[in-house]
Amino acid sequence: MSPKASMQVLSVASEAYPLVKTGGLADVVGALPHALAPEGVAVRTLVPGYPGVLALLGDATAVHAYDDLMGGPARVLAGTHAGIDVLAIEAPHLYRRTGTPYADAQGRDWADNGLRFAALARAAADVGRGAVAGYRPDLVHAHDWQAGLVPAYLRYGAGPRPVTVMTVHNLAFQGQFPASLLPRIGLPAESFSVDGVEYYGAIGFLKAGLAMADHITTVSPTYAAEIRSSESGMGLDGLLRQRASAVTGILNGIDIDVWDPARDDRIAARFDVRRVKARAVNKAALQAKLGLDVDPDALIFGVVTRLTWQKGMDLLIEVLPRLVQCGAQLALLGSGEDAIAQGFAAAARRHAGRIAGLIGYNEDLAHGIQAGADALLVPSRFEPCGLTQLCALRYGAVPVVARTGGLADTVVDANEMALAAKAGTGVMFSPVTADALTTAIERTVALWADKPTWRGLQRRGMATDVSWTRPAARYAALYRTLVEHHAQ
Ligand code: ADP
Ligand code: GLC
Repeated sequence: MSPKASMQVLSVASEAYPLVKTGGLADVVGALPHALAPEGVAVRTLVPGYPGVLALLGDATAVHAYDDLMGGPARVLAGTHAGIDVLAIEAPHLYRRTGTPYADAQGRDWADNGLRFAALARAAADVGRGAVAGYRPDLVHAHDWQAGLVPAYLRYGAGPRPVTVMTVHNLAFQGQFPASLLPRIGLPAESFSVDGVEYYGAIGFLKAGLAMADHITTVSPTYAAEIRSSESGMGLDGLLRQRASAVTGILNGIDIDVWDPARDDRIAARFDVRRVKARAVNKAALQAKLGLDVDPDALIFGVVTRLTWQKGMDLLIEVLPRLVQCGAQLALLGSGEDAIAQGFAAAARRHAGRIAGLIGYNEDLAHGIQAGADALLVPSRFEPCGLTQLCALRYGAVPVVARTGGLADTVVDANEMALAAKAGTGVMFSPVTADALTTAIERTVALWADKPTWRGLQRRGMATDVSWTRPAARYAALYRTLVEHHAQ
């Protein structure tokens, strides 16, 4: 086989694991460089220089400078971290703050997020056009609304431009800002049009990316179809229908080295598909750690999630009495909305020993739950891809998921026909209501009671390919087609 021609891609995002992470976006952006290298695609990743990012890039060198980037001086720094070739924008007036990438410690969005992420896109477009000496990417890959203006800066700037791809990780976050921002972010008045950045009288960052990128991808085939429907299109379905021929769904993978039950040193006992029984040690450790009754016969439902409406956590709280009545337990790890956290805390007090968990972000416990819980619940109202069910498959925790987005694409429901054909890796339910979730929990309890069937679910789940190998090949093929087409 001839070696694949090398290709240069600049990936642009507000998060990249392990530099900075609030959710799955970071996992994907952090995984792409490693996944694409064997495909002959060299990825550089451009992120804002939050304090944590700059600290990790100790020995970075300045490769480009601005006297004024959205209101202050800035530099683009080049460095590496954890094998990722990183470009970070050092702009103290925009990024030198404590809090999350998007909000202050009280959870209020930074008032200047429009400027902060316009700066990310502006710098990406400049690097895309050759601002960094010796570097000219063939393609710029923008992720989510924070990078949505990349295609806009490239369209309204002068000179040859690289190809652009816009990936939607979550259509619910669109980045809308007042029209008055336009002159401050340096886009021309003509860009404020229906086929430009204008969106219902405001500036839409994601809308701009969807309107102007050469190609759009999203993180599962089912979500790619869903976002073109009025029910799930969140106001952008019309535009996405118009651009239907330029929309592709490519499933995410997970990093199978980070998530490897045979080598995971964050869990009590390592195991693999031939030693599934060793999970019992992890189960007991999880029960002890969280204060659940140490009982091998109680089915543990695990949850690892952001506590938000998207994830259906309010429904789960509603059905907890029934879950406990079935003899099951709940092990929860979640961070997010206070009201939901309080709902779980109240349930944990009421059902001590049966419902327990930790409110916060904790990677060790995320591994502990995947390794020790019997099933993993993901009752999302919508889910572009979802990564936790992929980790669950790999760790032999049977996923119990809503039939939506990437959940529908990655789990095979263990209905009678599937079981007869020795297929089925989990339990799927719809619609996303308390009743259907209750039925799914009851079905899971029934499957668990039939040990050979349950082992079959676990074994097939663990044998499922959840790696980046196939998705990376699809991205690389798409990149190549687009770049060849662009060159003609
Ligand atoms: P989303 O990005 O919508 O939150 P995903 O399933 O795509 O959902 O990705 C979530 C990622 O964040 C996974 O890697 C998951 O393990 C991790 N995660 C979510 N909540 C927590 C938490 N409270 N503590 C540790 N990791 C978490
Ligand atoms: C978003 C989505 C999630 C997806 C992740 C990575 O956060 O909510 O479903 O897995 O992005 O693409």
